[in-house]
Amino acid sequence: MKVAVIGCGLIGKRRSQTAMEHPLSELAIVVDINPAAAEAVAAQYGCESATDWKAAIAHPDIDIVAVATHNGLLAEIAIAALQAGKHVLIEKPMGRNLAEALKMAEAAKAANRILKIGFNHRYHPALAKAYDLFQAGAIGEIINIRARYGHGGRPGYENEWRGNPELAGGGELTDQGVHIADLIHWFAGLPTEAFAYLQTAIWPIQPLEDNGFGLFRFGDGAIASFHTSWTQWKNLFSFEIYGQKGSLTIEGLGKSYGIERLTIAYRKPEGGVPDLEDLVFDLPDTSWELEWQDFIEAIAAKTPYWGAPEEGVSAMRMLDALYRSAKAGAPIHV
Ligand SMILES: NC(=O)c1ccc[n+]([C@@H]2O[C@H](COP(=O)([O-])OP(=O)(O)OC[C@H]3O[C@@H](n4cnc5c(N)ncnc54)[C@H](O)[C@@H]3O)[C@@H](O)[C@H]2O)c1
Repeated sequence: MKVAVIGCGLIGKRRSQTAMEHPLSELAIVVDINPAAAEAVAAQYGCESATDWKAAIAHPDIDIVAVATHNGLLAEIAIAALQAGKHVLIEKPMGRNLAEALKMAEAAKAANRILKIGFNHRYHPALAKAYDLFQAGAIGEIINIRARYGHGGRPGYENEWRGNPELAGGGELTDQGVHIADLIHWFAGLPTEAFAYLQTAIWPIQPLEDNGFGLFRFGDGAIASFHTSWTQWKNLFSFEIYGQKGSLTIEGLGKSYGIERLTIAYRKPEGGVPDLEDLVFDLPDTSWELEWQDFIEAIAAKTPYWGAPEEGVSAMRMLDALYRSAKAGAPIHV
């Protein structure tokens, strides 16, 4: 399958390498509005380069389009690529807002093509293992979830696309928060109610937020709380799931987020210190390869895959409710 990667920044480079290394895909063309960025990737992998994404996605030889531009173009390029008959992987978030996500889901359905949202965190080994254990009933029904995710941002954010409402859609609640929304949804389903406080504490990116605090309540009474932050001076990822019979704690994502670990606590019926199992995943990050493999299998064998349009829409629905709640200063029905 021949691949076009649109956007040759941090993630586009990663997608290019992954597409090139997979036995069933071949990187045919990389596109960036900045010719030097596209040419550098093309020189590395021996493919074509271009600056016009419209011409690249129209090419009949292309089977797959991976969209890794700023958030402002994800929907426009994804919809055009789907309408041109291509399978599409877009980076998270699923567009700038719920309306864009719904349009993309509709376009994928109409074109009968695979659209995958880049929720690569699901493929991190500690999270994938936690999900398997949860599915196997290791901790019973979920009572509550507590999540924290963040990094320290950087001076000059206001001059980057992440600091521009038109190009980003939202601030940190959208940027890293969409991963948290997706993980919460993955484990606990769609909440019924959402509440959020947003802050613009340090970086001059108003009206965007550099911190988001959120609460979700689910139909069965479960509750999830989270904090996403661009003022988390020491990078942090922590995702804790508490069930009736025990808990799953995932910490770290590798590199600057620390070694990835999963701690499973098995509650003792008589009370006291639970039995603990500690799994350490001190490995290189293979989430991008596993995610691409899932995508390729979905195209080749029509297998179910993670990051399907309805999952992307659910995460955007959750963020939409949080933004509306922050504006209203009240809980919002999701
Ligand atoms: N899954 C993850 O953990 C993760 C991590 C970081 C970023 N992302 C997502 O990946 C996407 C890209 O983020 P990034 O950090 O790589 O950004 P980036 O700024 O490094 O790269 C974006 C690239 O898009 C190019 N671009 C802009 N307009 C274009 C156009 N009209 N045509 C072609 N190229 C154009 C820019 O020149 C730039 O090279 C975003 O949607 C972001 O949310 C996902």
